[in-house]
Amino acid sequence: MTSTTPGGRTAVHPSPGSGEDAPPLVELRAAGKSYGNVRALHGVDLAVHPSRVTCVLGDNGAGKSTLIKIISGLHQHTEGEFLVDGEPVRFSSPRDALARGIATVYQDLATVPLMPVWRNFFLGSEMTKGPWPVRRLDIARMKRTADEELRNMGIVLDDLEQPIGTLSGGQRQCVAIARAVYFGARVLILDEPTAALGVKQSGVVLKYIAAARERGLGVIFITHNPHHAYLVGDHFSVLRLGTLELSAPRDRITLEELTNHMAGGAELAALKHELAQVGGVDVAALPEAGEVSAPAGDGAPESAAPAASAASTNAEGKP
Ligand SMILES: Nc1ncnc2c1ncn2[C@@H]1O[C@H](COP(=O)(O)OP(=O)(O)O)[C@@H](O)[C@H]1O
Ligand SMILES: [Mg+2]
Repeated sequence: MTSTTPGGRTAVHPSPGSGEDAPPLVELRAAGKSYGNVRALHGVDLAVHPSRVTCVLGDNGAGKSTLIKIISGLHQHTEGEFLVDGEPVRFSSPRDALARGIATVYQDLATVPLMPVWRNFFLGSEMTKGPWPVRRLDIARMKRTADEELRNMGIVLDDLEQPIGTLSGGQRQCVAIARAVYFGARVLILDEPTAALGVKQSGVVLKYIAAARERGLGVIFITHNPHHAYLVGDHFSVLRLGTLELSAPRDRITLEELTNHMAGGAELAALKHELAQVGGVDVAALPEAGEVSAPAGDGAPESAAPAASAASTNAEGKP
């Protein structure tokens, strides 16, 4: 399913065997992580398949960042197993993860705002020409390649000479996604890529998440927006207080149920827990989580732009 091109990058081709039938690219089995005596994550199972978007949802503090830090090599798990291509691994740096084709696009993108788009595309991996010691940057080839790769992902920018800082947040996310694809990512981790974006730009980013899936990548999409998740997700894992509250493939869960898990059930349960500790509130008389009706599900899977109500739940725009 994968092949290596002369440039050393791995190209991933979707094949009939891709998807849930294919062995997972990345898998967590009862994985957990403690920071000292803070248990941030416990007993989490997660499988990332090629050509699938696996959404990881959860409120602030649920353990989403901890989970992706394990997979991206920033932290090591302290419980359970972490497997890549079926083989147990323990990464000591993000470089180890990258070497296995696991690329992470962080919210605060590592770009140089005043440098042109094409230059940022190759930042740290510049193309050169000529033999040592007269090796020079191959500017023409970098420009041409960046242009081709962005177009392959359906990203059309007027001018690759413009400083990347002049692009919108959504466009910059898209360049980062195309870059990861070009440099051979098999697994693409996106940490709340739509959290700080408006409705239209979120729609654009979701489109490229789908494009990465079409290219055969296994995508891990971190979000706390069930509408955004449902627009592109094939599998949904909801974290709550560090444990997996729900893990369901798309055909086993509706947007209403997912929204209820996120905005209704989990939140209400947590509030009840708090109230019970305060006392003076008859918690038993409050409705059960399941009885809370979900807000109107207005994010139809077909529509390209996510619902306005969905974007407004992201107001805090985490760093
Ligand atoms: N470096 C750290 N040291 C101690 N506790 C941490 C650290 N990082 C995260 N935590 C704790 O782990 C829990 C999960 O955090 P995190 O993974 O950042 O959640 P999320 O990304 O879902 O908001 C929180 O209770 C948080 O305070
Ligand atoms: Mg986080």
